[in-house]
Amino acid sequence: MPAVIHLATTPPHQTLTLHMPAEGIALQGRITVPGDKSISHRSLMLGAIATGETRIQGLLLGEDPRSTARCFEAMGVKVSDLEADWVTVKGVGLGNLQEPTEVLDAGNSGTTLRLMLGLLASHPDRFFTVTGDSSLRSRPMSRVIKPLSQMGATIWGRQDNTLAPLAVRGQQLKPIHYHSPIASAQVKSCVLLAGLLAEGATTVTEPSLSRDHSERMLRAFGANLTIDPNTRSATVYGPAQLTGQTVIVPGDISSAAFWLVAAAITPGSELLIENVGVNPTRTGILEALQAMEADITLENERLVTGEPVADLRVRHSQLKGASFGGDLIPRMIDEIPVLAVAALFAQGKTVITDAAELRVKESDRITVMAQQLTALGAQASELPDGLEIQGGAVLTGTEVDSYTDHRIAMSLAIAALQASGTTLIHRAEAAAVSYPEFIHTLDHLCQGR
Ligand code: S3P
Repeated sequence: MPAVIHLATTPPHQTLTLHMPAEGIALQGRITVPGDKSISHRSLMLGAIATGETRIQGLLLGEDPRSTARCFEAMGVKVSDLEADWVTVKGVGLGNLQEPTEVLDAGNSGTTLRLMLGLLASHPDRFFTVTGDSSLRSRPMSRVIKPLSQMGATIWGRQDNTLAPLAVRGQQLKPIHYHSPIASAQVKSCVLLAGLLAEGATTVTEPSLSRDHSERMLRAFGANLTIDPNTRSATVYGPAQLTGQTVIVPGDISSAAFWLVAAAITPGSELLIENVGVNPTRTGILEALQAMEADITLENERLVTGEPVADLRVRHSQLKGASFGGDLIPRMIDEIPVLAVAALFAQGKTVITDAAELRVKESDRITVMAQQLTALGAQASELPDGLEIQGGAVLTGTEVDSYTDHRIAMSLAIAALQASGTTLIHRAEAAAVSYPEFIHTLDHLCQGR
């Protein structure tokens, strides 16, 4: 019997049905994954505020970067057809974003809202209003409003200026040294972007190193930016001069993670995932899976417009449970839901701690993963800051829900590959936020095409 992968639309949502043959399906072949979400956002944003033209190849066409493009278009930036092979952004130059006549809508995207806030707050005499979908309107904004306020920003929001919708009156900001209490690339990037127009040195120090795409790209665009790896600090010297560049966006390791886990847990599988970004601040998932004895190798390692890239080969192997925490967590924060799926099929217990940040993502990923995996028959329990998962799970298909979170939808689909019977994943359309082709690739692999 062939695998059944079917997407049904019941407006406004979609339900993904998966039914695997009892003998299982070995996943084989070469695939590519869509462009890196973090790099896509940054290429659009830096392109927007630079002087001259930025050309982008491999831009992620997910809902999140589309939100970024729409927001900057509303502030006078010309962005070419996003579907084109090369997307061009005609920058307005630093400090020249226009006051939009409409509310800026970041949709589901925390990166759009938080990074953009640093730019809006530093545009004197302009007024901006920003919002997002119901998930984004419940996510904490104080983490960026606090440092921006220390720089002199004027921002209002719901619930004592902590939640969107937000209103911003741009100001001439002053530089600060911000010691962030959390390892967050969104916080770091927001403050560095605000620092571009402040006069002097703006520094962000983090408790653990978060992804460094902003630092790399700001330098490539001509900003004077220094890094102190010993103190995990980045400093930008304003006012900066940014010039449009060519950016080639690598495949997103966060999207590749679904296939790494799918092949690692499915007997007989071997996949080559080509052209994946392997920036060391993002490769925690490779280290975690390798620590669980996954068979993953990097081939054809190279540097593409300032970012490390490789092809990833993964073969099935018997995984072993392991414990993860500390500095590794920020380097795989978005991959923890699918790492939890890998843990279900390992020998022994897996414990993930120091990951309380998962509670303030697109959903509370700790609660939602524990509940949904339990519904499938797993032994998965919540910790205050992580998850505890028993290996050797035997899953039975049932109805589960993405809670409108893209990474939950896709992680549950990977779990369903190993479930007997039929699994229904409700609100599966969320996958399009970061991986519009996910279901197509899943079907392709399961039909052995
Ligand atoms: C991102 C940073 C991370 C990550 C998000 C993308 C970025 O968020 O979870 O998907 O592009 O800067 P935090 O900064 O909140 O950890």
